[in-house]
Amino acid sequence: NVPSLGARYRDYFDIGAAVNLKTIESQQGVLSRHYNSITAENDMKFERLQPEEGRYTFEAADRIAAFADEHSMKLRGHTLVWHNQTPQWVFEGRDGQPADRELLLSRMKSHIDTVVGRYKGRAYAWDVVNEVIEDKSDIWLRSSPWLDIAGEDFIAEAFRYAHEADPAAILFYNDYNESDPVKRDKIIRLLRSLKEKDVPVHGMGMQGHWNLNGPGLDEIRAAIEGYASLGLQVQITELDISVFDFEDRRTDLVRPTAEMEEKQAERYDAVFRMLREYRDVITAVTFWGAADDYTWLDDFPVRGRKNWPFVFDEKHEPKPSFQRITDWQ
Ligand code: XIL
Repeated sequence: NVPSLGARYRDYFDIGAAVNLKTIESQQGVLSRHYNSITAENDMKFERLQPEEGRYTFEAADRIAAFADEHSMKLRGHTLVWHNQTPQWVFEGRDGQPADRELLLSRMKSHIDTVVGRYKGRAYAWDVVNEVIEDKSDIWLRSSPWLDIAGEDFIAEAFRYAHEADPAAILFYNDYNESDPVKRDKIIRLLRSLKEKDVPVHGMGMQGHWNLNGPGLDEIRAAIEGYASLGLQVQITELDISVFDFEDRRTDLVRPTAEMEEKQAERYDAVFRMLREYRDVITAVTFWGAADDYTWLDDFPVRGRKNWPFVFDEKHEPKPSFQRITDWQ
């Protein structure tokens, strides 16, 4: 008699999963029973939606949006402006030179208008800008063609364009290593400056690519509180908790040991206990997948090694982690 994960968290936050065209078939059962929100893992990224200038390819993204409708799930949009998975043409000028600022921003605007407009009223939220803060401590913003060509207010412009395209959508800044104290402070500085300029940013997306022993609960807590102190809602947008430490490069395991699963369950338990304390600011927790038979971590950071990061196993059965995050008073 397994409770539904989404139903168990109804009074707390939405429970989401990243999906693709394969998993909406192969994981349909576990998705529809346990999750009440989905994000397209790749199919709403720039290179998928507009591989060539003006040629939009919405088939896969539309399929995913239809899956959300069919199963009464919410849909999060991911992602509009990112340094990865964006085609080269976006940054190229019409004369073989790099695009200039005006051209780049006009392309950004038409992409955002078209994409946000298409899913208006269906994607209730968008990750508007993804991963623009630099990890290295002495640099603020990540070098990318967006920044190098358009200057830092491409970030504000992206939010303005998205807000114009769908004034009801909840607009997120999204990043990883989001709980690291140094990176967190840089993210807060960015978000504060956007708020001071009345840029329409409404939420902070903490990706949550975590593992067994990091980041520390205190760091996650301080990050949630820091982002919330700016008046933003917070979501965990890409949660996975690998059974490995980040440094662990072993490749010989064919399944996690019982001891690893127990450690993972303790970690999930501690993380979700804390997240529940923040039900007033956290509006959704989205896993970057639904069950251990498929995750991008099968190829990252070690190619061809499974990481078993979720609360459902490769057969979609609940793991000890699932028991611990659903079994509380
Ligand atoms: C990942 C996808 O899961 C992979 O399939 C793809 O090859 C690369 O991107 N941060 C993000 C996500 O914001 O879009 C990334 O998704 C994972 C890291």
